[in-house]
Amino acid sequence: MNQPVMGGVAALNVPAYVKQEKLVSWVAEIAALTTPDSVYWCDGSQEEYDRLCALMVAGGTMKRLNAAKRPNSYLACSDPSDVARVEDRTFICSAKKEEAGPTNNWTDPAEMRATMHGLFEGCMKGRVLYVVPFSMGPLGSPIAHIGVELSDSPYVAVNMRIMTRMGRAVYDVLGTDGEFVPCVHTVGAPLAKGEKDVPWPCNPTKYIVHYPETREIWSFGSGYGGNALLGKKCFALRIASNMGREQGWLAEHMLILGVESPAGKKHYVAAAFPSACGKTNFAMLVPPKSFGGWKVTTIGDDIAWIKPGADGRLYAINPEAGYFGVAPGTNTQTNPNCMASMERDTIFTNVALTDDGDVWWEGLTKIAPDHLIDWQGKDWTPAIAQETGRKAAHPNSRFTVAAIQNPVIDSAWDDPAGVPLSAFIFGGRRSTTVPLVTEARNWVEGVYMAATMGSETTAAATGKQGVVRRDPFAMLPFIGYNMSDYFQHWLQMGKKIAASPAELPKIFCVNWFRTDADGKFVWPGFSDNMRVLKWMIDRIEGNAGGVENLFGTTPRFGDLMWEGSDFSQEQFEQITSIDKAAWIEEVKLHTELFEKLQHHLPAELVLAKAQLEKRLAA
Ligand code: OXD
Ligand code: MN
Repeated sequence: MNQPVMGGVAALNVPAYVKQEKLVSWVAEIAALTTPDSVYWCDGSQEEYDRLCALMVAGGTMKRLNAAKRPNSYLACSDPSDVARVEDRTFICSAKKEEAGPTNNWTDPAEMRATMHGLFEGCMKGRVLYVVPFSMGPLGSPIAHIGVELSDSPYVAVNMRIMTRMGRAVYDVLGTDGEFVPCVHTVGAPLAKGEKDVPWPCNPTKYIVHYPETREIWSFGSGYGGNALLGKKCFALRIASNMGREQGWLAEHMLILGVESPAGKKHYVAAAFPSACGKTNFAMLVPPKSFGGWKVTTIGDDIAWIKPGADGRLYAINPEAGYFGVAPGTNTQTNPNCMASMERDTIFTNVALTDDGDVWWEGLTKIAPDHLIDWQGKDWTPAIAQETGRKAAHPNSRFTVAAIQNPVIDSAWDDPAGVPLSAFIFGGRRSTTVPLVTEARNWVEGVYMAATMGSETTAAATGKQGVVRRDPFAMLPFIGYNMSDYFQHWLQMGKKIAASPAELPKIFCVNWFRTDADGKFVWPGFSDNMRVLKWMIDRIEGNAGGVENLFGTTPRFGDLMWEGSDFSQEQFEQITSIDKAAWIEEVKLHTELFEKLQHHLPAELVLAKAQLEKRLAA
């Protein structure tokens, strides 16, 4: 299919099954700008996946893992400069700065287009332009939307096949005039004639650019994760949040899980946590043995698209088809279902290689192997680690695995209609101040809790780790428009449901991460989070007690089910106590946030803060 270059322009090689002229002329336009050696239209087949992986193995981008230990799996190691999302290089280029709001980087779209045009000119020289058609959400679902990514990275093409419904069937949905979000991606490393490629091409200059009005994405210079797999953060959150605002739905940084009681009653909940705070673990939770008969099933682990149904309830789908999860800390104790998911057919990125051709990362086993090749290709031993502090796997190393490999995938995970939500959960990573769980007394109080959420930063993005930053709705890096308008949209959605016959989902706020005087986590987390989840379900069903505090309802020790646990009442007090002095300081930070977001900030939230301050002063 890769025909020779003709007159300096690569042949387009359009397959007969591609019927849309607009798409073809856009591909032609981008090919003319970026001047790849050839254009290749991905069909999403297994044969194609295997062929592209073999190509990357030959080129040194990937290693094939020991097939006896990890069938059909690969390890890719990136350039050390390209290991995480680059939030400071991410731009929302709406027509006006105030539409992007104070939490987003903004550049005038005309100016950015000129910059992008300059950078993209000839940027794919010596490479293949892959045309990657994908559906976010079940093919043809009324909640789903289509994108097409043009990328010069085969690593992107194979990851997109796992992370989305990618391939030929998308063109049938697209037809002659269906809509798609155009996504253009380059690693920004053109090759001169005869120049040998490097294993992980990228560019020190990086731009992740979104044009909300025209719903376009342009990404330059990175081949890693959310910077490059444009269906995920760029489309499913930043662009989709704009679509949701316009069309009356929600695009959220949330996992979706199903929880079924022994009596067979099932609820679905969606939970927002900042990056690398355990969303994948929570989505695949295994209830403690003492919770015989309770079942947790996964719809999604990172993103939820939520639309009101005809009955007024909110219905959610997972727009993705795979998991791009953080490897370190994942093991058979913390997430056995995830470990089972990645037994085969998995792409690992930036983890360590064992001497027998398998993978390892910090936290996989209690005792590290005697020798490894670390993610940067260097010899690694426990002694070297002790001496230098060097990690075997990068803290933001990842696995890419298809959702269908998850043993606890929910039977409705691919249902085009989505699943009805009974609750929203918001959780930050806070070593102090925020109690284990709080139920908002009403929608506005819940929106206030979510809007003022703080969390300690993690390795998922470049920058300093462990500093508390306000991360409203866990959407700080992902909201595609003005944050205050987004709060307003949430309040509006609440009013819309309240006006329908449906009941509003409850809103809860959790914190698994409070520490003791030695900095150790007090709450065991993981399976034990089921105790908190059960309390929520009981509250939804009207079967559990709690007490009102300064900002909502919290359980007493006796309101949670403790069978099979030796967690003491004293420890419980340690993670549920509400320290007034700490909260006075906390609310000062809410004030700081609200000052930043003042323009467009909904009056209801200002009032909610005033009421909280009044209760604190009482
Ligand atoms: C992710 C993130 O990769 O939030 O999911 O960074
Ligand atoms: Mn995420």
